[in-house]
Amino acid sequence: MSDGEGKGRLLLGIDLGTSHTAVMSSRGKKFLLKSIVGYPKDVIGLKLLGRPHVVGDEAFEMRTYLDIRYPLQDGVLSELSDRDLDVARHLLTHVVQTAEPEGSDEICAVIGVPARASGANKALLLKMAQEVVHTALVVSEPFMVGYGLDRLVNTIIVDIGAGTTDLCALRGTVPAPEDQVTLTKAGNYVDERLQNAILERHPELQMNTNVACSVKERFSFVGVAPEAASFEFRAAGKPVVCDVTEPVKIACESLMPDIIESIEMLLRSFPPEYQSTVLKNIVVAGGGSRIRGIAGYLKDQLRVFGEAEVTCVSDPTFDGCRGALRLAQELPPQYWRQLGDVAGA
Ligand SMILES: Nc1ncnc2c1ncn2[C@@H]1O[C@H](COP(=O)(O)OP(=O)(O)O)[C@@H](O)[C@H]1O
Ligand SMILES: [Mg+2]
Repeated sequence: MSDGEGKGRLLLGIDLGTSHTAVMSSRGKKFLLKSIVGYPKDVIGLKLLGRPHVVGDEAFEMRTYLDIRYPLQDGVLSELSDRDLDVARHLLTHVVQTAEPEGSDEICAVIGVPARASGANKALLLKMAQEVVHTALVVSEPFMVGYGLDRLVNTIIVDIGAGTTDLCALRGTVPAPEDQVTLTKAGNYVDERLQNAILERHPELQMNTNVACSVKERFSFVGVAPEAASFEFRAAGKPVVCDVTEPVKIACESLMPDIIESIEMLLRSFPPEYQSTVLKNIVVAGGGSRIRGIAGYLKDQLRVFGEAEVTCVSDPTFDGCRGALRLAQELPPQYWRQLGDVAGA
């Protein structure tokens, strides 16, 4: 579609995360939804739902009678199947509708996808996106975060999400595959570790990963405990309060060795004269950047390499899509092809 006279252009920055999708539009719309699509399991479900599928938080609430799909959870790790693409298409269509485009709008979206999405999968995602918007650019999430923060050179971004932790070395160009490391230990892994650590100490408690996740999101920390983690669980149907400070610490710190090792590996890939600068430009993003004490902990652990500076992004939920929108606004869609995989330009 051409850049016609008088025609409105709606720019969208979309962070298509594995657990949540965050969106900001050039008209000031901003929203977050769970990256899930629910489908009726049978005709009763279809009757209850009254439509073929439901997207986001609404789907999560109705999960007991829906078949719940996370379009980007497993698909990007292996091969995207037609089914995965359908799910992603339903999610993206819903996202664009929620952004309320006007009928005549040209919709241009910069879409951040998990860093590990392979070239082939990115191309498929892009083909799908083209059916939903006029112009789409697919870039990796950590790059978007760096762009939004103006930290594109001599920087390492550590994005701790739900399913994966993605690290990315930014060298002033669009990152190449070798600039990125994906670790499968992230938020979900902490939930499992925490569940096990709590059950070891209190086998009588009724536990599952949802409960563990709530405990984590309330008390997460590494290093010195900022407060006692005391939580009301249930055992034999009754409320029981337990101190879980130590399990929370163990679970959160279980992420750290691999992160430190990967930072070290990326650091070494920079020319030696830049390494001390890179060490002062380490940015932690994603939901896991909310773990209290994480910046100080990493700084301490990196001391052997020199004086490090580690900062956490100020808005882990929206900093990714804010970067994507900024990219869309600063670089006109006709230049997007130079940045990565584009469809429709
Ligand atoms: N306060 C917190 N402490 C630790 N982890 C948190 C906190 N808040 C959210 N998280 C975790 O962050 C993860 C989600 O991060 P997010 O960046 O949204 O993921 P993704 O990009 O994979 O969709 C989840 O595992 C969630 O439990
Ligand atoms: Mg993310």
